[in-house]
Amino acid sequence: MTQSTAPGSPYGTLPPASVPGKRKPVSLPRLREMQAQGDKIVMLTAYDATFAAVADAAGVECILVGDSLGMVCQGLTSTVGVTLETMRYHTESVVRGLHRVQGTAWVIGDLPFGSYHESREQALRSATVLMQAGAHMVKLEGGGWTAEVVHFLVERGIPVCAHLGLTPQTVHALGGYRVQGKGDEAAATLKRHAHELQDAGAAMLVLEMVPAALSAELTRELDRCATIGIGAGAGTAGQVLVMHDMLGVNLGKMPRFVRNFMEGAPSVREAMAAYVQAVKGGHFPVDAQHGW
Ligand code: KIV
Repeated sequence: MTQSTAPGSPYGTLPPASVPGKRKPVSLPRLREMQAQGDKIVMLTAYDATFAAVADAAGVECILVGDSLGMVCQGLTSTVGVTLETMRYHTESVVRGLHRVQGTAWVIGDLPFGSYHESREQALRSATVLMQAGAHMVKLEGGGWTAEVVHFLVERGIPVCAHLGLTPQTVHALGGYRVQGKGDEAAATLKRHAHELQDAGAAMLVLEMVPAALSAELTRELDRCATIGIGAGAGTAGQVLVMHDMLGVNLGKMPRFVRNFMEGAPSVREAMAAYVQAVKGGHFPVDAQHGW
């Protein structure tokens, strides 16, 4: 990897790691330990070197290079137009930023729409691109057919994070950005998919816009797969937010479940640290906030 800007250059210096030499790199065994101990896992999206380094210094444990970058960085109206090459570029930038500050965060690269849908082999080729860009894990959306893909990747040594509930890559099929898993049948399907993904070897599962009671129930049931909620209540093993949302910078409507952590924070780093503390302390989210 190249380093185009020397530390101390006029183009911005990255922050030092918060406790140099003290924090150990986040690993899969560590994440499992956190899940078992009920220590909430804090995840945040980041798409470039500087914000990734700031998030790491603030104590964020997992950085998701999400395909939400299509919306917040590229100005697209959905994530459907994001390509694998774009994801590779941003993953590499994030990893470079973390290396510069000896960061410890676990990096998850999001497999974009169309990069894993054709076959297991296509998924392996796409996942290889993101792993070689420096990701520690890849994320893919959906249940049912994806379990076979997850199994294929995990067998080949690629850690996988699954994603159920509101899956933005299928927003057109879902009919909009709305709550999923409501009603007995939808809840039963979501639960079945979650168990299939755990059995296939997914180590993490993002639950997006799912009723709080359902995600809490799933969190109790899944002992080999850490649930990470976004608009899914307080009962999950961890939380994730889109960075721009929690910093209060958003081109559209702010989702109801988001909190603007810049309010009262003197810097981005402190806003991120407040997010970390709020999740760890069980102060964010508050179930009543989104009411589903
Ligand atoms: O792409 C993304 O940022 C995501 C999160 C919303 C979980 O998938």
